[in-house]
Amino acid sequence: VQKIESLLGRTIGLDAASIGRSTIERAVHERSRMCLLPDKDAYWEHLCASATELQQLIETVVVPETWFFRDHGAFAALADTAHGIWLRSRPSATLRMLSLPCSSGEEPYSMSMALIDSGLPPERFRIDAIDVSRRALEKGRQAVYGRNSFRGAQLQFRDRYFEAAGTTYRLAEPVRAAVRFERGNLLDTNFLPGAALYDAIFCRNLLIYFDPCAQTKAIELLARLLKPAGALFVAPAETTLVQSHGFSPMRWPGAFAFRKDEAPPSPAHTETPPASQAKAHITALPRIPFTQQLGQPVAPSVKAEQMVDITRLADQGQLEAAAEACAFHLSTNGPSAQILYLLGLIRDAEGRPIDAIRHYRQTLYLQPAHKEALTQLALLLDKQGDSAAAQLLRARLRRLEPSHA
Ligand SMILES: C[S@@+](CC[C@H](N)C(=O)[O-])C[C@H]1O[C@@H](n2cnc3c(N)ncnc32)[C@H](O)[C@@H]1O
Repeated sequence: VQKIESLLGRTIGLDAASIGRSTIERAVHERSRMCLLPDKDAYWEHLCASATELQQLIETVVVPETWFFRDHGAFAALADTAHGIWLRSRPSATLRMLSLPCSSGEEPYSMSMALIDSGLPPERFRIDAIDVSRRALEKGRQAVYGRNSFRGAQLQFRDRYFEAAGTTYRLAEPVRAAVRFERGNLLDTNFLPGAALYDAIFCRNLLIYFDPCAQTKAIELLARLLKPAGALFVAPAETTLVQSHGFSPMRWPGAFAFRKDEAPPSPAHTETPPASQAKAHITALPRIPFTQQLGQPVAPSVKAEQMVDITRLADQGQLEAAAEACAFHLSTNGPSAQILYLLGLIRDAEGRPIDAIRHYRQTLYLQPAHKEALTQLALLLDKQGDSAAAQLLRARLRRLEPSHA
């Protein structure tokens, strides 16, 4: 059985201890009996020779437990982000989402219902629903569910989107339209080769069953599949794990949503902030509307309406959403002094001076005569106690004044 445990670990990442060794023992016993094999050794030989049997064993050991709107907050956050971030920056885009593992479909269909409820027609989004279990996928494709899939008190969605069929409920076609089921093993070497990146990935209640090596591999893969401004949703028990692998929490309470940490800017684009910043005190800027703080005319690479959208978000106090829209802009259009400066303002207002300083410096690298960035950076450095650096910047500012020429 130990050999079988390691095979399952190598194939689907399963940590035998997570489901209990006796569960695997029982599964092996059951499969040996079904295959009419006399003992475990004979079963092991059969298992090594037959991919079909390996799949059968996988079907027996996986935990397909799931239900509609499990951890409700995630679906509200998904709809909010769809409108507040992704569609604002790309109004005509089709949103791409991944539910992995989707089990029998309750999760991807909940995503679909949440988005339709928020006013998004099914043709504006696509959800790839992937799981290693063919049995679970078949149930998802049929989209007929029993009482166990509906838990908790908030079941109004069932009246809106399901038709009762005896003791079961059949899901309406528009909710199904955007969901595509596919068999896949997250740990396969050629898992989703060449897939376009996703705006959102739901990977919930899978990592908890993985051994540490599989967890790391899986999170690295999820990071590769996620767009820079995308959101990764995990289960409550998996939050610490993703935070220790390069993800930071997003702002919705109860959503367990994360985004990728910003990649460190390339050395060519940064100056190293002075060490004195390490003991910085956080001081927020006075709240002057972001629209008034931009100053410089919008660069041709930044579409005016995108800038308006991002500053509007910031002025409405949706700082995180505005910062994400900036990050998305930078990742799709390349460096822009205007966007980096705005990101600096946002981080400054959020009370994140180290990040703000970094973005102001990046702005000045791209546009050395950016007066507003010089002013803000000098102010911030003063607050950090680095008045020598602040004075140098003010001298630089004075040299830019027409009277100086
Ligand atoms: C507990 S369910 C989670 C379903 C859903 N995400 C949720 O949170 O309700 C776990 C699912 O993970 C699937 N699974 C296990 N190992 C997998 C792997 N290596 N690749 C893809 N799916 C896997 C199982 O088949 C099972 O359906």
